[in-house]
Amino acid sequence: MKRFEGKVALVTGAASGMGKASALRLAAEGAKVLLGDLNAEGNQATANEIEAAGGVAHAVAFNAADEASCKALVQAAVDQFGGLDVVVNAAGIASFYHLHELTNDIFNKFITINLTSVFTICREAMPHLKKTKGNIVNFASLNAKVMTAYQTAYCASKAGVAAITKCMAQEFEADGVRANVICPGGIETPMVKNIRFPEGLNRRLLANLQPLGRKGEPEEVAALVAFLASSEASYISGEDIFIDGGARSAL
Ligand SMILES: NC(=O)c1ccc[n+]([C@@H]2O[C@H](COP(=O)([O-])OP(=O)(O)OC[C@H]3O[C@@H](n4cnc5c(N)ncnc54)[C@H](O)[C@@H]3O)[C@@H](O)[C@H]2O)c1
Repeated sequence: MKRFEGKVALVTGAASGMGKASALRLAAEGAKVLLGDLNAEGNQATANEIEAAGGVAHAVAFNAADEASCKALVQAAVDQFGGLDVVVNAAGIASFYHLHELTNDIFNKFITINLTSVFTICREAMPHLKKTKGNIVNFASLNAKVMTAYQTAYCASKAGVAAITKCMAQEFEADGVRANVICPGGIETPMVKNIRFPEGLNRRLLANLQPLGRKGEPEEVAALVAFLASSEASYISGEDIFIDGGARSAL
């Protein structure tokens, strides 16, 4: 028996990296997956890959910066597949900035895309999750707990994701809805490969970013997503689970 047979999962950030790996994993385990990403081509490619492997997927254009788009994404999952069991919020952005470069517009962009979108999607999904006794897996980061120079906006957004997820876990525990946060360390994805570092930064201040031995693979994180989203994790809620190769414990 596949763990997600008969279940519906919504996955954001499904065009790339850990969102894509999570969507592939959930679909391989039987979930019908609704995929959302700003990168429409990549999102459709993930849907095609799932269907080529015999799974069920539907790709929807989605902009996390837009409240209406967040609401429409949840509605699309319900319209397409008749309900919602699992929500995985993986869409996000990351960059490094000197404080003096970090305008309010840039700061607010991080908060809107990385945090407000997660809040909106969870709020809109909650009535549906209450019906199915479903659950939420939100992507925060090692940077939800370990703060890094030049990442003021990113760290604020990810600490916020951890906070709101735990609040929701408390509020909806009695309804049978679980909510957990995944906090990856350095994972080998396009986000990390293409990350922007500003001129003139002090590398010594970034020492806590060094992974132990190697970076993680998106599939290793997807395995954790699938476990947390499954009934095997039925007594785990309100947790932030670090998947960082031991990096946090070394700090
Ligand atoms: N890679 C890491 O080392 C790492 C570490 C900790 C946390 N994270 C978090 O994990 C999540 C997944 O990251 P990843 O490394 O797989 O990155 P990624 O860049 O490979 O994937 C992120 C996806 O989000 C999408 N996205 C970005 N802005 C969007 C928007 N406005 N609307 C809709 N989609 C949008 C992108 O198109 C992309 O497909 C992110 O939330 C990230 O912050 C990553």
